[in-house]
Amino acid sequence: MATARLPEREMPAIMEKLVSLAKRRGFFFQSSEIYGGLQGFWDFGPLGVTLRNNIKRAWWRSMVELRDDVVGLDASIIMNPKTWVASGHVQNFTDPLVECKKCHQRFRADQVSGTRHAEDGGEFTEPRQFHLMFKTFVGPVEDSSAQAYLRPETAQGIFVDFANVLSSTRMRPPFGIAQIGKAFRNEITPGNSIFRLREFEQMELEYFVPPADEMKWLDYWKEQRLGWYLDLGIRPEKLRLRQHGKEELAHYAKGAFDVEYEFPFGWSELEGIAARGDYDLTAHQRASGRDLSYFDDVHRERYVPHVVEPSAGVDRSMLTLMIDAYHEEEVRGEQRVVLRFSHRMAPIQVAVLPLSRKEPLTRIASKVEHELRPYFRTEYDDSQSIGKRYRRQDEIGTPYAVTIDFETETDQAATIRSRDEMTQVRVPLAGLREALQERLH
Ligand code: GAP
Repeated sequence: MATARLPEREMPAIMEKLVSLAKRRGFFFQSSEIYGGLQGFWDFGPLGVTLRNNIKRAWWRSMVELRDDVVGLDASIIMNPKTWVASGHVQNFTDPLVECKKCHQRFRADQVSGTRHAEDGGEFTEPRQFHLMFKTFVGPVEDSSAQAYLRPETAQGIFVDFANVLSSTRMRPPFGIAQIGKAFRNEITPGNSIFRLREFEQMELEYFVPPADEMKWLDYWKEQRLGWYLDLGIRPEKLRLRQHGKEELAHYAKGAFDVEYEFPFGWSELEGIAARGDYDLTAHQRASGRDLSYFDDVHRERYVPHVVEPSAGVDRSMLTLMIDAYHEEEVRGEQRVVLRFSHRMAPIQVAVLPLSRKEPLTRIASKVEHELRPYFRTEYDDSQSIGKRYRRQDEIGTPYAVTIDFETETDQAATIRSRDEMTQVRVPLAGLREALQERLH
């Protein structure tokens, strides 16, 4: 989890601009903001929800629907607490915490160096281990027997359900179980907007393989996962795979890679891909007394499958897509901000804009929007001047705008304006859908 993280007040200018755009246009804003917010928690506005759904749909499509060797799962967030004892989280899921002796601000020990706080000569306490799981109580009695945890990763739900999936499907190793869902960690220093959160969403695959094949599959999945980000339209020069050094690896892990993106605050982890051996299944087998092995009736052998795990974050993918798409440019002496989302990811694909709020323009425009809506993610907008509306669509990354003007009624045609080239072409109303379908890919 090596991350070049800056404290919020040193956030590079581009991050500040993006966070302000995100709020202004409804991608994301601080949770419970009217009460002063809550650090590490964010809400996703109308465009944010759509962008996240596009990300999750793309992941599910490529990881589950287009494959015959992966099935889905949706496990509960609160599980029997024995799960977290067996997985090692109760014992080990901690971060080293230090406190500044002067101002009593707390930091993660591995993140404090290089920050302004350390340079200002703050003196810190010795690190102590701080537990990252959120605790809660299940049922009407709040004693230790009722204590449970909010899951800090979705992965354990998959391991604990391994035998159920094996017996209820025809899946046989090598095969995978995929899950998208919320996870919670009481991070000491959440920050960089939605990069490090206390409530976040993961997209995880646990891929179960014969023990001898584990490293082959690690190799396979690291390439697949890097390819997925490239497919979303992220610039290749901003992406890299970084292999974990021996000292970074968990004691049970045989190898791991991070997919990293070059954020304005440095190269940071988007996704971890790890060869976890048989650590989790063996641990749950031991603790539960249930058999979690697999009998391969072709080779007549029984084994506990080994696991390769690509584990990604919805929030980090979202931040990456937004930062990567963010462009500022000069157009005829004016500054233009554009989010150059790929057509597949753009929350709105087609905006329908009547040039003025007069009849028959608005009537024609709403009819056009209504007709395009089943085929594209559309938006109708008749507020403000046309210039301001184009600027808004550029800022939210809409690839095409259809403008209905004073000629439309007579020539039964409209103008398609492209976000990237800013060209305008006249297209008959009857051919609008095809013209947009040709352009949107
Ligand atoms: N099951 C393995 C696992 O959870 P991880 O590296 O701790 O591994 C995987 O997390 C991914 O989950 C990260 O690469 C990141 O995308 C996302 N993630 C983890 N902690 C996060 C946090 N505090 N805020 C936002 N995303 C987080």
